[in-house]
Amino acid sequence: MTTTADDMRSNRDIIGRDDVTDVAAVLAMVGHDEPDGRHLVDDPCPAEFTWDYQKGAKPKLDKLYEKAKNAQWNGTTDLPWDTEVDQEKVVIANREANGDNLRWANTDISGTVLEKWGDKEWMRFGVENQNWMLSQFLHGEQGALLCTAKIVETVPWIDAKYYAATQVVDEARHVEVFSRYLDEKLSGHYPINAHLGLLLDDIIQDRRWDMTYLGMQIMVEGLALAAFGFIHGMTTEPLLKRLLRYVMADEARHVAFGVLSLQEYYQELSSAELRERQEFAFEAAVRMKDRMLMQEMWERMEVPPDQVVRIITQGPERDDFQILLFSKIVPNLKKLGLLDAADGWLREKFTEMGAIAFEDLSDATEDADAFADGSPAERQVV
Ligand SMILES: [Fe+2]
Ligand SMILES: [Fe+2]
Repeated sequence: MTTTADDMRSNRDIIGRDDVTDVAAVLAMVGHDEPDGRHLVDDPCPAEFTWDYQKGAKPKLDKLYEKAKNAQWNGTTDLPWDTEVDQEKVVIANREANGDNLRWANTDISGTVLEKWGDKEWMRFGVENQNWMLSQFLHGEQGALLCTAKIVETVPWIDAKYYAATQVVDEARHVEVFSRYLDEKLSGHYPINAHLGLLLDDIIQDRRWDMTYLGMQIMVEGLALAAFGFIHGMTTEPLLKRLLRYVMADEARHVAFGVLSLQEYYQELSSAELRERQEFAFEAAVRMKDRMLMQEMWERMEVPPDQVVRIITQGPERDDFQILLFSKIVPNLKKLGLLDAADGWLREKFTEMGAIAFEDLSDATEDADAFADGSPAERQVV
């Protein structure tokens, strides 16, 4: 379908609801169990051969590929898996290191079940929060694995196919280490969050090759890089800290891969085509914001989600969320020209969501990690 810049798709058309902040609509979207445990998504994107094998035709992608080959690490042997992890001790140590904010000390919880919580409940919250978060990281990593394998097939340039192949290995390693961490060090798995699942499905189902990049490398991985950085800075658990440091060095390259690949391509697109990309970026931003409500965790803890998510969306943590969500994404969208294309449609959307302030932070191509040589000494800076 071709859209012209004049076609005004509404929020309802794009995200399925009129109001971005409609919490009831967000909570109404729940995951469903698949009878045989399989999740199949149709992928309509044509695979493309290229007969132009000239390595280095895209010099920046070539440089990134050379870096990536050097920066490989082994999830089995490069991480201290013998570290003993006591989740409750980690909850306490993190709280001591980061202040009582982890117990929502600065949040008005009156009138909710949280008001009656004692140490036991807050401890369970801390433990389940670790389980939920790492589970979603794991599922997101598998999404990245599938999307990047798809990019190997669909991107037209040999330098990008080469680079994407290294990212496939990176993502396999990320799935491996998050899965092992959950199995060996934590105390429970969560299924994929409904909003994250919907977004990953949408990315895979789009037949335009650049949408895989936009959805995965720019949006999902942009958020992941920010989220990993946040947890890396917050956690006192040495194995997780090391694991995240290694994963972040890879993710910085992945986000840079997205920006370097799309930057040139987007200069050739019409205003109407850019508008479609803007709508997709907006949809992805909303899904990722919705995911942060952690609704599966509240359900497991038998807390009515509508009570707590209202606090999350309105409380002081909201600002932290915005930083987490958009600090890496908005500067990259700006660099791609997507903030201001089509009369600044996306700028307006992000302004409404309170996220535009981050537009001038450094973008992925300036991220030191993206072009670091990945040597073991460099990676071990934690
Ligand atoms: Fe990853
Ligand atoms: Fe990645």
